[in-house]
Amino acid sequence: MKGKVLVIGGAGFIGSHTADELFKRGYKIRILDNLSPKTHFGRWPKYLSPKFEKIKGNVKDRKILEKSLEGVDFVIHLAAIMDLMPDYSVFFDTNVTSTALLYEIIVAKKLPIKKIVVASSQFVYGEGRWRCKKHGEIFPKQRVNESLTQKRWDPVCPLGGEKIKPLLLEETHQDPPNQYAISKYTQELIALKLGRLNSIPSVAMRYSIVHGPRQSLKNAYSGALRIFTLQLLNNKPLSIYEDGLSQRDYVSVYDVARANADVLENPRADFENFNVGSGKAYTVLELAHMVAQTLGKDWGFKPTGEFRVGDIRHAVSSIAKLEKLGWKVRDKEEEIVKEYVNWVKEQKLDQDYLSLAEAQMKALGVVKKAAL
Ligand SMILES: NC(=O)c1ccc[n+]([C@@H]2O[C@H](COP(=O)([O-])OP(=O)(O)OC[C@H]3O[C@@H](n4cnc5c(N)ncnc54)[C@H](O)[C@@H]3O)[C@@H](O)[C@H]2O)c1
Repeated sequence: MKGKVLVIGGAGFIGSHTADELFKRGYKIRILDNLSPKTHFGRWPKYLSPKFEKIKGNVKDRKILEKSLEGVDFVIHLAAIMDLMPDYSVFFDTNVTSTALLYEIIVAKKLPIKKIVVASSQFVYGEGRWRCKKHGEIFPKQRVNESLTQKRWDPVCPLGGEKIKPLLLEETHQDPPNQYAISKYTQELIALKLGRLNSIPSVAMRYSIVHGPRQSLKNAYSGALRIFTLQLLNNKPLSIYEDGLSQRDYVSVYDVARANADVLENPRADFENFNVGSGKAYTVLELAHMVAQTLGKDWGFKPTGEFRVGDIRHAVSSIAKLEKLGWKVRDKEEEIVKEYVNWVKEQKLDQDYLSLAEAQMKALGVVKKAAL
């Protein structure tokens, strides 16, 4: 046995796969999860191995977290709220305060924790890194609703250049554009700075969009693959925002689980942040077609003329830093889309969570219509 890992949020999508990977590598697993109603149906999911120790509770509860940390060697903190709803304080309370509490308890009780891995996100880059023909490397400011309403989707060169194109995102910068991204970047800072201050090896993982089975169908507020799959299965039009040409990179949950386990085991990862993606760009329309083909439905997709407030134009991560540790992408996006869609077909939903999420996001102004 290599040690015991506490996986906070381990009943979820990335957490459960990470627990499986670590168990396979010889670790004992303890899961702390509150079975959040945004993700779960009020019971432990069946996919969790009976060999895992499970504690039901909130990561924000000091007593529960203290109990969960007893006898543990490593911690992976994946619990979070992660939609674009405007309940800002809830984001910070769950994603940020819980991380601070984790370090506070470890320091106060002098717990012999060997490493902490926290989940950040590619979202922390905001509009990211672009190249301007006239000014070279630039970091455009966040797009404003006034431009998006006029269908001006691309960000602009802050120095007034006219021809700009996106570059791969590297771990050297950040410009979090919304409540979720701010909470994730703050979580990173807490882990890397308080970790160093207290000599607790810590690592922050900037995941790109993660794909694979077990991604909760209940949380239909975000996740293009989940939403397109549900829409196509229900013969609904696809919510393709902006012009459908936004670029993203997708990474399989198995590759993410291996990345989490690799940094946990590698001292060269300590006090660093890492992109975990594929480095390969797909437009949103390309993803929609991939899902449709898998389901044997290929319609002429049209963007809805809407946009999501706080969303970013393009986001494709460089994975060079993580590759230097020996990690490589193994799974192909086409294969993982197939596996996901087949998994969705096997699931039974008690309600139309997709319509509920769509209606709520429109009512709260999270999705807006472009004017032209
Ligand atoms: N899925 C992605 O594409 C993606 C991309 C970038 C970053 N991330 C980050 O990865 C992490 C895991 O995401 P996921 O996709 O597996 O989500 P998920 O919803 O499947 O898993 C999160 C788990 O955390 C639990 N949880 C939530 N609040 C809690 C609380 N207060 N106390 C205890 N448990 C709580 C939930 O019940 C759930 O089981 C998150 O931190 C997220 O920000 C995910």
